[in-house]
Amino acid sequence: MKIHLIAGARPNFMKIAPLYRHLSTQPDFDVKIVHTGQHYDTSMSDYFFADLTLPTPHYHLGTNTGTQAEQTGAVLVKYERLCQDDRPDMSIVVGDVNSTLACALTAAKLSIPVAHLESGLRSGDRTMPEEINRIVTDQLSDLLWTHSPEADDNLRREGIDPRKIDRVGNAMIDTLVHLLPKIRGLAVHERLGFSPQTYLAVTFHRPANVDDDAAFSRIVDQVESLSSDYPVVWPVHPRAMKALERIERIAELRRNPGVQLIDPLGYLDFMSLVHGSRLVLTDSGGIQEETSYLGIPCLTVRPNTERPITLTHGTNELVSPANIISRVEARLLEPSRSMNRIPAWDGRAAERIVESLRNFRDSRNLS
Ligand code: UD1
Repeated sequence: MKIHLIAGARPNFMKIAPLYRHLSTQPDFDVKIVHTGQHYDTSMSDYFFADLTLPTPHYHLGTNTGTQAEQTGAVLVKYERLCQDDRPDMSIVVGDVNSTLACALTAAKLSIPVAHLESGLRSGDRTMPEEINRIVTDQLSDLLWTHSPEADDNLRREGIDPRKIDRVGNAMIDTLVHLLPKIRGLAVHERLGFSPQTYLAVTFHRPANVDDDAAFSRIVDQVESLSSDYPVVWPVHPRAMKALERIERIAELRRNPGVQLIDPLGYLDFMSLVHGSRLVLTDSGGIQEETSYLGIPCLTVRPNTERPITLTHGTNELVSPANIISRVEARLLEPSRSMNRIPAWDGRAAERIVESLRNFRDSRNLS
């Protein structure tokens, strides 16, 4: 079975890694990695391929600039060309980035079966580009791999045939489980001059936070306030860097002895930073899951989450920009929460995915 495993942006790489590791050792699968080029900086892409021991992508579509429409359109055109030259029996897309939607749409129109990993997540907020990408990708997919019961419910509510849904668990947690021994040994905080559990790790990149100058200024104000009591380490995403330059806060943050602004980190270094932190302040999707697995308190600066299981079973909490300081202080005083292990977030999702693919292939008579 010829498979294209598609990744375009930073959070995709951790999800394809365990699939590639498992599929590439099976004689009945011929798997090729397609990198769309949505993320192209060394720190946003190359470091991840090295850390995750992924090979150089078999195909690189090199689509890296422009508005979301230009980005999506460029991937549509280039992925169609690739499918015409080297047609797969299935395209596997992951997550919710623009590349996910573009490749799912191309494949579906060429009648190539589509499997979607991390299917069924919904924030209920259609102002997020990712929410549109999720809804459309799920509608186009033939096989929908989910990681939680809520995701299955969301799909059924949208009229997806339940026979297409397979709850395989969390592939990103596979990567974390696989690399945790290495992550534990790294102690990135020591390189930065901190003892473990003394600093806050901060990340922001969502358009709703960083592209809104007033909202982002309010967030930066609160991070600066917190930094007088708790040191802050902030690996800055390119979108957030552009915003900090636009609102002219870079120089002041760099002068602040309580804040370390650093470049985006590779996977191992970033997870080590999180692992050693006292608390994480973020608007990321994936970090809500990783902190929940690790038992690190996480405050997510968003009005909603597509990952409610991290609120009920994990360490995650949603906060508004106005409440950041009070909630950080409250969480730092709380004893650590007792953790409910989330079913199927166990490091074995990729094994279940291989089985699911075989069942699909046999039911469709794909070679
Ligand atoms: C994208 C995803 C988001 C994911 C995030 C992780 C969509 C809609 N959003 O958001 O779901 O959580 O990736 O990082 O797909 N840039 C660089 N270097 C890079 C990559 C991007 O400078 O390697 C610049 C781009 O030119 C652009 C900005 O950063 O100006 C944002 O990049 P983009 O890919 O549009 O979206 P992200 O905000 O990274």
